[in-house]
Amino acid sequence: MTLDQFVQDLARDAGRIQNDAFHKPHTSRVKTGRGDIVTEVDEACEKLIIDRIRLHYPGYPILSEESGAIGVEEDRPVWVIDPLDGTRNYSMGIPSFCCSIGLVRQGVPEVGAIYDCVHDEMFFARRGSGAFLNGERITVAEWDSLEDAVVSVAWVRTKTKRQRFLGCIETLSRYTSYFRRFGSAALVASYVACGRIHAYMQGGLSPWDMAAAVLIVEEAGGCVTDLTGQPIDIRNPKIEVAMANPVLHDRLLRDVVSHMD
Ligand code: IPD
Ligand code: CA
Ligand code: CA
Repeated sequence: MTLDQFVQDLARDAGRIQNDAFHKPHTSRVKTGRGDIVTEVDEACEKLIIDRIRLHYPGYPILSEESGAIGVEEDRPVWVIDPLDGTRNYSMGIPSFCCSIGLVRQGVPEVGAIYDCVHDEMFFARRGSGAFLNGERITVAEWDSLEDAVVSVAWVRTKTKRQRFLGCIETLSRYTSYFRRFGSAALVASYVACGRIHAYMQGGLSPWDMAAAVLIVEEAGGCVTDLTGQPIDIRNPKIEVAMANPVLHDRLLRDVVSHMD
């Protein structure tokens, strides 16, 4: 089985677990705060993914949201996994969540799959080979203006981050009112990749939120950087992103980020 097939099958199989248990009662426990929960479905998906990687790619390091780092070494490619991205949505019956799996070499993703089981949508990319939705080539939207752009913005809820979030919204709202907030970072990025939304800015993300997402957006012709314009390094524990087509991305950095603080 090729690596491309392996990653997609794995994300799809995790999606099957999610689909089977969606709308049923869940057992959940709190992680860092009231809204930050993990369910038995996150854990079941993670177990499936880790077991299968160990079987087919023995010895490969793994970084997964619930289990943390397993044998991560500087110079080896790492599997970076978010078994269920959008757990809060999932636990409340909101059909906006996914499974995200990426293979990352020295902070740069090489292969990524994001699967939304509710809509049976598989977003996939391999570096240098383009991005795909259910096997069809996808590209970011051509919309190159902030005026009336459809934008997703989200930040974590600490005091300083809140100020950044409000600054971002305040500035963006001079140009557009089309804000969207989906509650699944990897899925939002996939929507940028296929042109459903024009731009996405978020802080407080983790490597597993962005490992596959960054690659899929880049391979769809998008530009993804942190808010200083630097490329995303998936090894960073906390990640801020701005993504859009290259022209709109430039405007995000020039006309929004510079007015945020
Ligand atoms: C969260 C979701 C959410 C984003 C948070 C993530 P989780 O992931 O992607 O949209 O705002 O930063 O932690 O916890 O559902 O995997
Ligand atoms: Ca996540
Ligand atoms: Ca998760």
